[in-house]
Amino acid sequence: MQFPLKITETKISTVIAGSSVWDSLDGLVAELIQKDGKVFILSDDNTARLCLPLLLDKVKGLQRSVMLNISPGESGKNPENAISLWNALASGEASRNSLLINLGGGVVSDLGGFVASTYKRGIPFINIPTTLMAMADAAIGGKTAINLQSVKNIVGSFSLPEATFLCPEFLSTLNKSHLLSGLSEIFKISLVADKSFWEYLSSLDTGQLFSKQLNLPLWEELIARSAMMKCKIVEADFFEKDSRAVLNFGHTIGHAIESLSFRDKQMPLTHGEAIAIGILCESYLSMHQCGLEEKEFRRITQLFISTFGDYGITDKDIPVILGFLNQDKKIRDGIQYFTLISSPGKAMIKQPCDRDQIIRSLEFYRNLTSKH
Ligand code: GLY
Repeated sequence: MQFPLKITETKISTVIAGSSVWDSLDGLVAELIQKDGKVFILSDDNTARLCLPLLLDKVKGLQRSVMLNISPGESGKNPENAISLWNALASGEASRNSLLINLGGGVVSDLGGFVASTYKRGIPFINIPTTLMAMADAAIGGKTAINLQSVKNIVGSFSLPEATFLCPEFLSTLNKSHLLSGLSEIFKISLVADKSFWEYLSSLDTGQLFSKQLNLPLWEELIARSAMMKCKIVEADFFEKDSRAVLNFGHTIGHAIESLSFRDKQMPLTHGEAIAIGILCESYLSMHQCGLEEKEFRRITQLFISTFGDYGITDKDIPVILGFLNQDKKIRDGIQYFTLISSPGKAMIKQPCDRDQIIRSLEFYRNLTSKH
């Protein structure tokens, strides 16, 4: 398969992948540097060690940049880090034409994008995602945010990067659990928007994806298809007034499972692993609520269990998950609103489900993994 150099270039998203990704980045950086000369690169401890050397080697013009660094992990998306980055930009005399490059996963692109979009009312930034999750989802679509008072993404903006560059080489720095985390978003996008991509993914031998030597052309293909689809969805509804909510499939129950795993379990799940469970439960709801055929539901179940394994939830976890769901903003008069699918590739937003239906979907997953 030949990849377009530019997956998409519209007012909304410029996402660049393919073999000439470094040349394109080099060209864009040179163009932006001409306006001001100052470039700031935000990384975390991991990406500074594992990814920055490759970036500086490939794009020599970046070697004189000011390096900014945060500790890795979701806790980095805090107001204190935002303030210290604003201070670093001010001390480095960043002007409105200075450039911030976000080199990292979703935490780096969310925080860096937020800081860039607010400093001097907005300076240009570029996202270079280094995790599969960020390549497939977080770094595309212009959502930026920090967390406040333990609430995720409560302060943020819709702000577009100059471009997002997808460089599959960085995938070699990830362990299997991080690859799985991003893979669930790729599966999700196919299920809500692209039937033929879903058919393709479900025919893949997933062992191939996780071979010791990563099959980068195959990963590149998955990333490019998924990014292209995400761009289309975002372009149709940038501010998430309506149809962009298809991207929430699996996320309502998934977020509650993620919170459970952080609070009560010895092994916290990655975001994507929790979303994979959410997708299974919400596929169950889709079968009962939106006419998803049983044979399609079984295919989804089979692929997700064989890819992600099972994560035992017990009888006593179910009320805890319901408690987390109650905090969700999509609940009204005891009815929770979900994005569901009527068939692979076709999503339906704002689907009401009551507490009993939700409990049945959780019991389905509990029985499936039969560790109760
Ligand atoms: N991560 C979902 C979205 O970008 O809308």
